[in-house]
Amino acid sequence: MTKRILTWLQATSDQLHIGNYFWSIKSMLDLSQEFPDAEIFLFTAIMHTFTGLHDAEQLKTNVMNSLKLFIACGVDPKHFLIYNPADIPAHAQLNRVFECFTIMGTMERMHSYKEALDKGKKWEIGVGTFCYPILMAADILLYDTDIVPTGKDQKQHVEYARDMAQKFNRMYGETFKVPDTYIKSEVAIIPGIDGRKMSKSYNNYIGLLDDEKTISKKVKQIPTSAQTVEEPKNPDECNVYKICKLFLTPEEDASLRKKYLAWGLSFKDAKDYLYDKIIVFLKPIQEKYAKITDKEIVKLLADNAKKVNVIAQKKIDEVYKKIGFSL
Ligand code: TRP
Repeated sequence: MTKRILTWLQATSDQLHIGNYFWSIKSMLDLSQEFPDAEIFLFTAIMHTFTGLHDAEQLKTNVMNSLKLFIACGVDPKHFLIYNPADIPAHAQLNRVFECFTIMGTMERMHSYKEALDKGKKWEIGVGTFCYPILMAADILLYDTDIVPTGKDQKQHVEYARDMAQKFNRMYGETFKVPDTYIKSEVAIIPGIDGRKMSKSYNNYIGLLDDEKTISKKVKQIPTSAQTVEEPKNPDECNVYKICKLFLTPEEDASLRKKYLAWGLSFKDAKDYLYDKIIVFLKPIQEKYAKITDKEIVKLLADNAKKVNVIAQKKIDEVYKKIGFSL
């Protein structure tokens, strides 16, 4: 049987950077290579971002830009079934059912809630944030998902979805498939131009849509040591190298390391090399991005909503019948 994999893209930003590329887009591309025969469902986490973002235009722009960028980076809509869960009423319906099977104690132990507690007062946390894993369980269980690849941070949420499936099946008979978690191998931290983790909030990122001038400026800003051209340098202590490494083949990497360790490499040379590598990487992505229209995305989502709704509706009909909602 074809395996069904469920994955998602965040809708928290209208600009993605090369950190996002290596953390989420690349791992999604790897996934499609690792499971070439699987059916991959890819949804926008729009209803999840809504826990904290109540600006309609911003929310729409985030989703639109992120979808275009994922596709421009090679996420192929022929292999990934891309959809918007807000087009599928069964997400909210199943969320309601699961809410009524969940006690507050369970949600209080969840990672998402604890993280929110670290940032603010309990009574200021949105109920949507508190119940976030419940919506996730609905996202997962609606589709008889086999595998949910996640980072370690989401493991507990997927385990809650597994518990919910088992609980429901015990109470009402076999209904939901219990999904397997698949912990993705950790992607190394991608350094930003100041050496800290690349992040929009640190403003130390290289955007996937940055133009040549901006990239040139940002590369020049990368701090380097005061070593002279004649001195051998340790590549692993150099931020220019660390960013550059992301774009290199093993042979290019070996050759660059050799140049660092010998004498004669100036940081200007290293930066010029990095600049070229970034441009070569981003150019085709930006060209493809520019060609994708909003209309195409809207059509893709509308077409896929029809397909996905058929699956989701069948599941929620079965649930409604079993729990006594359909008279
Ligand atoms: N919680 C995930 C994140 O923040 C996003 C997400 C929403 C998700 N629904 C899901 C992940 C269902 C896996 C399955 O990254």
